[in-house]
Amino acid sequence: MNLDRRSFRRANQLAVLASAALLLGLAGCQGPFPQSTFSATTELGEDLSGLFWMIFWWGVAVFAVVQVGLIYVMIRFRARPDQPDPAPIHGHTALEIAWTLAPAMIIVFIAVPTIQVIWKEAGTDTANALQVQVIGHQWWWEYRYPEYGIVTANDLHLPQGRPVELQLTSADVIHSFWLPRLAGKRDMILGRTNRLVFTPDSVGEFWGQCAEYCGTSHANMRFRAFVHTAADFDSWVAEQTSAPAAAETLNDLERRGLAAYREVRTPASNSCIACHAIQGISAGVLGPDLNHMGSRSTVAGGTLENTADNLAAWLRDPAAVKPGSLMPNTGLTESEIAGLVAYLHSLR
Ligand code: CUA
Repeated sequence: MNLDRRSFRRANQLAVLASAALLLGLAGCQGPFPQSTFSATTELGEDLSGLFWMIFWWGVAVFAVVQVGLIYVMIRFRARPDQPDPAPIHGHTALEIAWTLAPAMIIVFIAVPTIQVIWKEAGTDTANALQVQVIGHQWWWEYRYPEYGIVTANDLHLPQGRPVELQLTSADVIHSFWLPRLAGKRDMILGRTNRLVFTPDSVGEFWGQCAEYCGTSHANMRFRAFVHTAADFDSWVAEQTSAPAAAETLNDLERRGLAAYREVRTPASNSCIACHAIQGISAGVLGPDLNHMGSRSTVAGGTLENTADNLAAWLRDPAAVKPGSLMPNTGLTESEIAGLVAYLHSLR
């Protein structure tokens, strides 16, 4: 009676623990999943998740076979009272051949489709592809569109239905370009150009992330990709290739911002113009190009939404927003910050 009650209580505790674990596990299943590889929207993405599932089910099959064999042996050959030790067996030719051949065959079944996908992607015709040079920096993304003469940062804009060839490289350490719902993951290495070719099929906003540890703010090295209809992409190109507003059209606050942007500070590396480019004003190459900064969705390498408050916080103390930030704290006054926010947001 006593024993029954104790085992009942233990079973109860186990059931509560199991339910809690299940609930915790299921909590992870709530969407949305902006960076899930399981909701691919391109042929390349589907090929890659197809490979993943194929390898996953092979893993499940191996696990099932091993567990069934293990449990069967544990029960069938368990020690029983008064039973002598079993006779040891050395070698079993048929078994040795079987468990060498079976894994080798499984590896072949995995390797053939994998190599097929690699060849298919490498063989995609890029004659008509939109070429985008993607350069990884500590800790932001630079995009160059040689076809249109556009240089931008962090927001990658792509047209729907046209193949795109990303030419990936780095300005410093090794980064990895990862845009889970559109394409795979590929390393970006200084002095080398890696390629990633795919065709964006669905219009929308897709999130990406650096996937190779690259220093203090690796986790803050994010980006967004925007896939537009052909017409919307053309308007984006027109917007990006237009000249920034002339100084005469700026209001007082924006003009104060332009003055702060132009100011040569001490040390000189604290001047905005030392690192950033704005057409007709400065041509720095160390930091992101700021032409059309106002039209971007994020600031600080994709860390924050591009709102006035966030941009002000970034200018006030970059390292507080993005630890290790290579943009120094330039000691701007609140008045300069307000002007710079207004001016940079006027660049659309
Ligand atoms: Cu760049 Cu991690």
